[in-house]
Amino acid sequence: MLLKLKILKVADVTSSYVDWFSVPETICYSDSQYRSHTLEGQKEYVNSCLSNDDVDLYGIFDDDLHVGNILISGLNSIHKKAEIAYIVGDTRYRRKGVASFAVSTIIEISKTNYQLNKLYAGLAEGNEGSRKVLQKNGFVLEGRRFAHLFYEGKFLNQLDFGLVL
Ligand SMILES: CC(C)(COP(=O)(O)OP(=O)(O)OC[C@H]1O[C@@H](n2cnc3c(N)ncnc32)[C@H](O)[C@@H]1OP(=O)(O)O)[C@@H](O)C(=O)NCCC(=O)NCCS
Repeated sequence: MLLKLKILKVADVTSSYVDWFSVPETICYSDSQYRSHTLEGQKEYVNSCLSNDDVDLYGIFDDDLHVGNILISGLNSIHKKAEIAYIVGDTRYRRKGVASFAVSTIIEISKTNYQLNKLYAGLAEGNEGSRKVLQKNGFVLEGRRFAHLFYEGKFLNQLDFGLVL
């Protein structure tokens, strides 16, 4: 694999990217389960990220193949903290270290390009893959919000993780 992060452009939006969100195990712990995804809608989303100076949306690429995304939000925070969220949408790339690579790369970018002091991320309790990705990258559990999320007809706890850079 030749993994890299690149700011996602409208031209990167393909039907394969849109199809990520029709896989039940991809959206079972995500607000994406409440949205419908279309080519036009994803292009608008990518465009809105490009025109928002508080966020950067990176595509995770294996060479030229778009396999996932990592979003960083809060770049203008006076507290120098930003939130991250990520997805490895191409299921062939799961459990191969792709999300771990993306988080580790965003940590470096956050220090060198954004001069941030802290990153944080929230996930639904039970999302073991996501929890391991954060813990492998040094994030620590800062809190548990009880019954904070409603996914697939159930109330789930939210685990809040943070990393002081
Ligand atoms: C969660 C997700 C990002 C993990 O991506 P990934 O590229 O497969 O993760 P990695 O390969 O870097 O795995 C990191 C560790 O988690 C483990 N892992 C990954 N998925 C797992 C799962 N479903 N259950 C248990 N462990 C899992 C890996 O085996 C690895 O463990 P190891 O280092 O001990 O070998 C991916 O499954 C995904 O996109 N899910 C849907 C969207 C989502 O949940 N995003 C996060 C929202 S907070």
